[in-house]
Amino acid sequence: MTLQNVLPWIQRAHQEGWAVGAFNANTLEQVQAIVMAAQVEQAPAIIQISHRALTHVGSGNEVQGIKYIAALGKIAAESVAAPVAMHLDHGTESEVVQAIVLGFTSVMFDGDGLPFEENISITKRLCDMAHSVGVCMEAEVGEVPKPDGKEFDESAIDMTDPDEALQFAQATGIDTLAVALGSVHGLKSKTVSLDLERLQAIRKQMSIPLVLHGSSGVSDADIKQGVSMGLSKVNVATQLAQAFTGAVREVLNKDASLVDPRKYMSAGRNAQMEIVRERMRFFGSSGKAK
Ligand code: G3H
Ligand code: 13P
Ligand code: ZN
Repeated sequence: MTLQNVLPWIQRAHQEGWAVGAFNANTLEQVQAIVMAAQVEQAPAIIQISHRALTHVGSGNEVQGIKYIAALGKIAAESVAAPVAMHLDHGTESEVVQAIVLGFTSVMFDGDGLPFEENISITKRLCDMAHSVGVCMEAEVGEVPKPDGKEFDESAIDMTDPDEALQFAQATGIDTLAVALGSVHGLKSKTVSLDLERLQAIRKQMSIPLVLHGSSGVSDADIKQGVSMGLSKVNVATQLAQAFTGAVREVLNKDASLVDPRKYMSAGRNAQMEIVRERMRFFGSSGKAK
């Protein structure tokens, strides 16, 4: 299929109490692992590319990265019958514009650190642009931290305020809202619980689908509960990188004379495909694209 606007799938998931998985990729093999899993599971899937992934793919030039990934995403989506979207994850203002122009079907503007009113005005402008060409728009209120291995203070997380969330969604017209409920990006084990009371309070205020970032560090029990309460897009990055890199490491450790990249990259791709499949089943998206 051609790249799809994922919003109808997220809205259906929202109504039926399951979630669409959004899977981060940094390499060709990681993109392939996601669409292969979507095909086998007959699940809708979102390939998502972060700001740092774009910089990596573009060898330091993120516009070049967006061009590469937009072309790759189209080919990957067309290689399977399952519905696949290409999403810009945590984009800057200029990256969101470039991604819309170059054919991404979904974008997130990350207004992290901006004053609330400025976040609203930039998000609204980008949202109008996205909607004029049928692209799905996500933004965030509060902040899921990105400590990147550094120490951070869990008690200082900027959790989503339900009233601000409502004000933001109404003022901008966004399709989905990323909420901070205690999760943290990049955790290597599932040690975090979600503030489900806060989620319930947000839900009382607004009906648009909500997005969970940092799911790799959240207990599966809380993800399940959160999905049933309206977290209808769930982002997964670190769990995929762990599976991919773990398999590559195992192959290389077994044979110090191995030099053929195809041998270890295909092991990484297969391992990632398995974890994406497992997450699709867990989120309840498997079989929904039959
Ligand atoms: O939210 C972003 C994902 O965790 C991936 O981030 O590509 O900057 O490591 P990264
Ligand atoms: P994790 O790396 O914790 O899975 O977070 C993924 C994410 O939120 C991408 O936006
Ligand atoms: Zn994120």
